Amino acid sequence: MEPISDETISLSSYSEEEDKLYDVLNQNIKLEGLAAEFFSKLRGLGIARFEKRLGAGAAGTVVQLKGEEDALALKVFEYSKDHVFLAADPKGEAIALSLPSHAHLGNALGLFTYDGKHVNFTKTYNPAALNGQIIVGVLSRSLPGQTLSTLFAHRKTFSKQEIKQVSKQVVMAIRNLHAAGYTHKDIHAENILVHQTVGGINAHLIDFGIACPISSKRERVDWRKFGYLLAEMGGKQLLADPQFFDLLYSENRGVLNGKKPYSGKEIESHLFFKGL
Ligand SMILES: Nc1ncnc2c1ncn2[C@@H]1O[C@H](COP(=O)(O)OP(=O)(O)O)[C@@H](O)[C@H]1O
Ligand SMILES: [Mg+2]
Repeated sequence: MEPISDETISLSSYSEEEDKLYDVLNQNIKLEGLAAEFFSKLRGLGIARFEKRLGAGAAGTVVQLKGEEDALALKVFEYSKDHVFLAADPKGEAIALSLPSHAHLGNALGLFTYDGKHVNFTKTYNPAALNGQIIVGVLSRSLPGQTLSTLFAHRKTFSKQEIKQVSKQVVMAIRNLHAAGYTHKDIHAENILVHQTVGGINAHLIDFGIACPISSKRERVDWRKFGYLLAEMGGKQLLADPQFFDLLYSENRGVLNGKKPYSGKEIESHLFFKGL
């Protein structure tokens, strides 16, 4: 008698979710062997189950993974020597690991690096230990909602209250980042995630891909980019509001004037934010 073949037996011991993650890693990393190493590392950590694609930008693809409690976001980078971390010149996603926890900053939970042989995972920012390693992935909490640019595309306009809420939260995130000694350098609507809560809109500043240590010039650039964002959100409707105008354009205090108009927490008490 012919042996009964059971075609339903899977040849792979991996689940469908794990297979999907493996494909994402393969497609994005583009280095034979490294994707497999990275996948086993994630599997060893118990976080190799793909849930959905969260987004993609210039630097990488972001996927949501099933975590033990919260869903996680994994940003995967194409393998490149340009992503090497140098303790003498720290920049990029590694910085997100050293940030103080803050309600409106999308801090990293962990970093995946490649030392030429193995993929390593670290939850702490130790520049000396990271020196010379290639950053291959960054893990963070998956944040609810959508990017501010998507919301903007759907909504076209925001109420004054919403603009105040989002911009004050972004101000707090930028200020905390600066206080920690770093600049973001890439503040725009695709790097801000927003979601609706009972108390209104809640915003997070994400993407530390080109963040680096602060200098007064870079600090001003962050504020100017914040100014463009605020101008975009406010549109023409808010130009007649004297406080909005002051925050953006006034000669001494406007964030778009290229000076450093505020110090410390001063900007958070600007009259535009009154009533929040
Ligand atoms: N923690 C997260 N939670 C939810 N979505 C995220 C998260 N991180 C990134 N994303 C999504 O992925 C997109 C790309 O991520 P980002 O870090 O900005 O990468 P890039 O450097 O490629 O711009 C974001 O615009 C956002 O839509
Ligand atoms: Mg981005």
